[in-house]
Amino acid sequence: MLSMRLLITGGAGFIGSHLCDLFLHQGHEVICMDNLLTGRKANVSKHFGNPRFTFVCYDVTHYIHVDGPLDYILHFASPASPADFERLAIRILKVGALGTHKALGLARAKGARFLLASTSEVYGDPLSHPQREDYRGNVNPIGVRGVYDEAKRFAEAMTMAYHRAHGVDTRIVRIFNTYGERMRADDGRAIPNFITQALAGRPLIVYGDGRQTRSICYIGDMIQGIARLMEAPINTPVNLGNPHELSMLELARTIVALSRSSSRIVFGELPQDDPKVRLPDITKARQLLQWEPVVGAETGLQRTIDWFRRTGIA
Ligand SMILES: NC(=O)c1ccc[n+]([C@@H]2O[C@H](COP(=O)([O-])OP(=O)(O)OC[C@H]3O[C@@H](n4cnc5c(N)ncnc54)[C@H](O)[C@@H]3O)[C@@H](O)[C@H]2O)c1
Repeated sequence: MLSMRLLITGGAGFIGSHLCDLFLHQGHEVICMDNLLTGRKANVSKHFGNPRFTFVCYDVTHYIHVDGPLDYILHFASPASPADFERLAIRILKVGALGTHKALGLARAKGARFLLASTSEVYGDPLSHPQREDYRGNVNPIGVRGVYDEAKRFAEAMTMAYHRAHGVDTRIVRIFNTYGERMRADDGRAIPNFITQALAGRPLIVYGDGRQTRSICYIGDMIQGIARLMEAPINTPVNLGNPHELSMLELARTIVALSRSSSRIVFGELPQDDPKVRLPDITKARQLLQWEPVVGAETGLQRTIDWFRRTGIA
């Protein structure tokens, strides 16, 4: 592959920073643009001083200017944790709508390819299981989760409109729950919650009866899938995630066991509109990208627990 110049919005976040690592490792030039709303400079600080890396602290809901050519824009800026859906409601809507518009405008101006980080949340609380890309979703637009779900649905619509109206070469990845090193301890998602609780010897709080299911994809698998989609000529959305389903209770028990914790498991109230099931159908990714996750839950969770322990964040 020739050397590319890429802009990654949200590049100091969890997934964005792993993408920065991957592309720098492959010899590309990376501009990481992030306003550090939910990301951390520490996620990318090891690249400071690398002449192929630039960090720009900037809010992408405003007009974006980048000097020189760009081959690719990966639009990952957006808070993603349900814990932030109320606290950052308007900022989530703005980055999904205005931020996507600004990033697409830049892609058009530079003739760059564009990839949108969308989400399984576009399927809402799904009535179809597992979720295929042609399922249109069951979203409550005025619920607390609606700000995130609708922002991403709008972002997908805007991306397809720029593709159809202006011929921008676009990609849409619908990311299912992803976990791994560099998740924020206080980000409110189940895995960092459980790990921090287990490492501190506190009870793990499972919402509802714990029978609601999720699929969890290790970050290393996810970024390989994203890199493959970037190179494939597919403009319609592609699900990426792990097709292995597990209940929240199983997840909590696994984390207690892997962290050799003596924590108990207790049950808490289910949050509003919490999806009961969530499982990707990855047939499209398997067939068109020859991609599927290879890291099992125990291996990925062990690496993540070790990272939390090592960094002392928990
Ligand atoms: N982690 C997952 O499981 C998951 C699942 C589905 C979709 N996604 C999507 O992937 C992307 C990254 O998620 P993540 O888990 O890495 O979250 P994250 O919060 O770690 O990263 C998001 C980054 O975007 C930045 N940001 C937010 N608003 C911004 C703005 N207006 N201008 C510039 N930067 C801004 C944040 O500071 C942060 O660094 C998001 O778009 C999210 O919706 C993630």
